[in-house]
Amino acid sequence: MASHAIEVKNLYKIFGPRGEEYVDVVKNGMGKTELNEKHGHVLGLQDINISMPGGCITVVMGLSGSGKSTLIRHINRLIDPTAGEVLYDGVDVCKMNESDLRAFRRNKTAMVFQKFALLPHRNVLENTIYGLEIQGVERRESEKRALGWIDRVGLKGFEKHYPNQLSGGMQQRVGLARALTNDAEILLMDEAYSALDPLIRVDMQSVLLELQKELKKTVVFITHDLDEALRLGDKIAILRDGRVVQQGTGQEIVLSPADDYITAFVKEVNRGRVINVETIMRPLSGNPEGLPLAAGTVLEAAARTMTGAHINAAHVVDANGRPIGAIDLQTIIAAMVTPTGHVARKAA
Ligand SMILES: Nc1ncnc2c1ncn2[C@@H]1O[C@H](COP(=O)(O)OP(=O)(O)O)[C@@H](O)[C@H]1O
Ligand SMILES: [Mg+2]
Repeated sequence: MASHAIEVKNLYKIFGPRGEEYVDVVKNGMGKTELNEKHGHVLGLQDINISMPGGCITVVMGLSGSGKSTLIRHINRLIDPTAGEVLYDGVDVCKMNESDLRAFRRNKTAMVFQKFALLPHRNVLENTIYGLEIQGVERRESEKRALGWIDRVGLKGFEKHYPNQLSGGMQQRVGLARALTNDAEILLMDEAYSALDPLIRVDMQSVLLELQKELKKTVVFITHDLDEALRLGDKIAILRDGRVVQQGTGQEIVLSPADDYITAFVKEVNRGRVINVETIMRPLSGNPEGLPLAAGTVLEAAARTMTGAHINAAHVVDANGRPIGAIDLQTIIAAMVTPTGHVARKAA
């Protein structure tokens, strides 16, 4: 029953020579600053519990220094935990012996880096093939697979180009093709798009979403950018100072930020382009009124459709066209403009 899910359980990372000795004081409430000042150890991660469903994109978001890289590096055990577990298909990665770990890393995981990590003296094809070469895959087979992925990421015709002949976005496409060519179930992306220009970044997000529709990999995507998190994440976990402050869907986080820290994050979000009609619809009472709106329609699009049709009421329909809720223009506008305070929301 391999679901390809990753379960992070009670994970702690305390950097320093005697990290284990301080797990208990951290459990008893000592924070990052105090641990550093009193004991000279750095609290990297604290009691992390995140289920990352198989076949989904889980985004880990947080400011610089919040522990994102430390967390993702536990998943292929580039970092050993101080306490806790990282389960993949029920097996604790942290307990694997050396040869199991090597096989796990090589066959199950692929990383995409911010700095692309391309080999400068190898062309696009040779870079893409690199992992298969190491695995000893026969040349004709590896070339066929690599060329397929080069095509899929939109680099057909660039096979013989060298990294320094490519733009940043194109280099990142090579990084993605290389990761996909490995055919790994888990894709680990640590700020993979953070160095790209905004428009190219959105392009690359689209490439990933398009591929993911069909590939259904277990993707762990790290970013400090909320718009990127909302666009990509089936699920989002927000880290602060090494702990999870909120996790849930983008809709949940935008509509009910757990604290002031997250409220500050979501304040700048364009709610009309993030919140779906089914998130704010009310139950149907009587016959469905007005226009049908497909579930998944964002508020801005719904408002445009309804104002364009001079109609105030609508109903939301599921993929089979079955009515599942009712909505009106006023509710839509209110949800688009309401300040995103978690206090205000509770009072509502
Ligand atoms: N090898 C290390 N030794 C000591 N402290 C570290 C080490 N790696 C990371 N840290 C600390 O752990 C915290 C989290 O870092 P990191 O995971 O890199 O954050 P992020 O990726 O969110 O920017 C930071 O305070 C950082 O200084
Ligand atoms: Mg980082």
